[in-house]
Amino acid sequence: MPTTVRSFAKINIGLCIGARRRDGFHELRTVYQTIGLHDRVTVAVGSGAGVELRCNIPGVPLDSTNTCWRMAELAMARLGRSGRVRIAIEKELPVQGGVGGASSNAVASLLALERELQIELPLPEKFRLAAEVGSDLPLFLIGGTVLGVGRGEEVYPLPELPPTACVLATPGIPVSTPQAFAGWDREHDPAKLTAFPPSDRINVFGSAVFLGLNGFLSRPDQAAGRFFSGVLATEGRGRAETQLLDLVRTGIANDFEEVVFPQHPELAQVKRTLEAEGADYASLSGSGSTIYGLFGSRGAAEKAAASLQAQGTRAQVTTTVTRKQYWEQLLVTGPAC
Ligand code: C5P
Repeated sequence: MPTTVRSFAKINIGLCIGARRRDGFHELRTVYQTIGLHDRVTVAVGSGAGVELRCNIPGVPLDSTNTCWRMAELAMARLGRSGRVRIAIEKELPVQGGVGGASSNAVASLLALERELQIELPLPEKFRLAAEVGSDLPLFLIGGTVLGVGRGEEVYPLPELPPTACVLATPGIPVSTPQAFAGWDREHDPAKLTAFPPSDRINVFGSAVFLGLNGFLSRPDQAAGRFFSGVLATEGRGRAETQLLDLVRTGIANDFEEVVFPQHPELAQVKRTLEAEGADYASLSGSGSTIYGLFGSRGAAEKAAASLQAQGTRAQVTTTVTRKQYWEQLLVTGPAC
């Protein structure tokens, strides 16, 4: 019996790019948040050897450059098992869209493979394997609201944002993450960044996230709240929305917007539409091109999605997914897709 798992997407609520490291990666800080939109990944193990990949849409590599392939090969070796691993990816998420589709697919493959083989790698080994395949994989071994540090692969569970209505606009422009980082480097020659070095910027980001998510900004007795926002106006809002507003009022933003919006001005327009429709927060996710908006109600999110669709932009309504929901919904029971 093959195993099918949901491979959820993520958004980045803030992404701060720091210095380029000796290994070529950039130090970064980000808040990952899993959301309800997902692909499905089905894994079966039979006799033979090697990996075999299928996908329902063209344009996804079906060879050893695919993250699922790499994960399956590595995992079989670490598990000390032999067999032919067949992986079918049913894609719903945008490819190269900034929502972690390929990364999530690879983690889904690992979890499904473990279930197929009825054997689990120790958790630290799973984190190591995930980080080996890519910076955005380990977050999918936690789910919910997750802090990403290092090159994004070092992950920590954060106090969770309660389920929040989310509009995902997918304009269908593929953005290469390495090229977006290269664009950032061109604009931010380290020699010019003397006033506010990258290491300071990412330290401030980390402090802001903890202050925001721990409710410090909405407590008038907290001087830190005034330091970061100057405003403490969350009266009349629900708990979920207050917590989100606390986080976004810290001023966290996605640095990639600075590189990607000038190249694709239509993406900045999508963000403006989401803000005009009343989003509590709207941003590029990862290096894009997905833009999302977080809303106080499902109704407001549906209205915003309709407005984007009327402008010819593909938009879907979903919600953020907590850690508990993530793990509860991961396994698809019943007939495999
Ligand atoms: O780790 P991942 O495979 O997702 O990274 C893809 C590419 O993105 C890297 O080869 C690197 O060029 C760039 N990158 C980076 N800094 C990061 C993460 C990725 O420069 N923190």
